Amino acid sequence: MSLDTPERLPASLADYQALAQANLSPDVAAYFLRGAGAEQTLRANAEDLAALRPWPRACKDLRGGSTACAVLGLSLDAPLLVAPMAYLPLLDPAGEAGVAAAATAQGVGMVLSAQSAQPMDHVRAEGSNCGWMQLYWLGGRDATMQLAQRAARAGFSALVLTVDAPVHGIRDAELSAGFALPPGLRAVNLDGLAQPQFAPLTSGESLLFDRVAHVLPGWEDVAWLCRNAPLPVLLKGILHPDDARQAVQAGAAGVIVSNHGGRVLDGAPSSISALPAVVAAVGGAVPVLMDGGIRRGVDVFRALALGADAVLIGRPVCHGLAVAGALGASHVLRLLLDELEVTMALTGCRTLSDITRDCLGPSPF
Ligand SMILES: Cc1cc2nc3c(=O)[nH]c(=O)nc-3n(C[C@H](O)[C@H](O)[C@H](O)COP(=O)(O)O)c2cc1C
Repeated sequence: MSLDTPERLPASLADYQALAQANLSPDVAAYFLRGAGAEQTLRANAEDLAALRPWPRACKDLRGGSTACAVLGLSLDAPLLVAPMAYLPLLDPAGEAGVAAAATAQGVGMVLSAQSAQPMDHVRAEGSNCGWMQLYWLGGRDATMQLAQRAARAGFSALVLTVDAPVHGIRDAELSAGFALPPGLRAVNLDGLAQPQFAPLTSGESLLFDRVAHVLPGWEDVAWLCRNAPLPVLLKGILHPDDARQAVQAGAAGVIVSNHGGRVLDGAPSSISALPAVVAAVGGAVPVLMDGGIRRGVDVFRALALGADAVLIGRPVCHGLAVAGALGASHVLRLLLDELEVTMALTGCRTLSDITRDCLGPSPF
């Protein structure tokens, strides 16, 4: 689609989602847009956000208002980052670099996936706001540290260790659509690093536990990485307040409340419902970010009101990329930023620090 004629621009992220769904082949749509199992968690992420009511306020002084902020040293025009997502060139050849350019143009941040199909230096050259690199535990300390060092050399300023996906979720939609990575597409930034070696799964339940147990990091590994990595480490995929406390104790520089966009454990709590307990457990020691189900600027506002310092956006960026390449991703982010500003104006919030729990109306439940 061309975005040259303004009257044809999609009006909302929902429009982009519908267009992406119509344009993508069923298998690619299943990989990028669907979730695990019966998609209860995928739906709950959006539904639980929608249950929170921003409370309009009258006649507030909005002069000098701004959404600008700093998140762990990143200076952003708004508390928004693109979430790490694998293999973006499947949606458009612009891929990760195109999204990095889009994020930079809109003044928001981006976390590059460990499963980026494009080299990290190239991505950062196209969009310097791609400031954080996501990694998985690569099955051992050496390989994980080598990846951390690659990220530091490429100029990233923080690492995001994802801890919620030691095994793939069971993704019914992907399985029935027959999704498989096309030949030639791979996680190029992991080239030459030892990858977790799984024994082939033949029979018996315990085999799964054995396969996972020897590639999973323990808290002592996380603490080791936090102590020795050349960059601060945030932990992504925290839902339980005890895990949030452990993360802080292990030396994490930040916590990202996330259920991987409902792609791993179906039935897990929505991110927004888990956020308040995590914020309380962290007690201001480190920044708390969240992702999952953010589809409107008002959702960003809802998450900030419940204590998030910033939010990450996943699938909507894929929708924009699939519909109109880097320009589509950029427009999706712009729509979110405009909607956030309008929500702030209508609730009488001049700056991000004005957005508190009191800005939400009484719960309907
Ligand atoms: C297609 C796709 C690929 C993803 N790949 C990764 C990844 O490589 N690493 C990671 O930590 N999270 C990954 N995620 C999870 C996102 O970072 C994020 O947690 C989630 O998408 C947020 O929910 P939302 O899509 O509802 O905004 C992926 C999500 C999607 C949709």
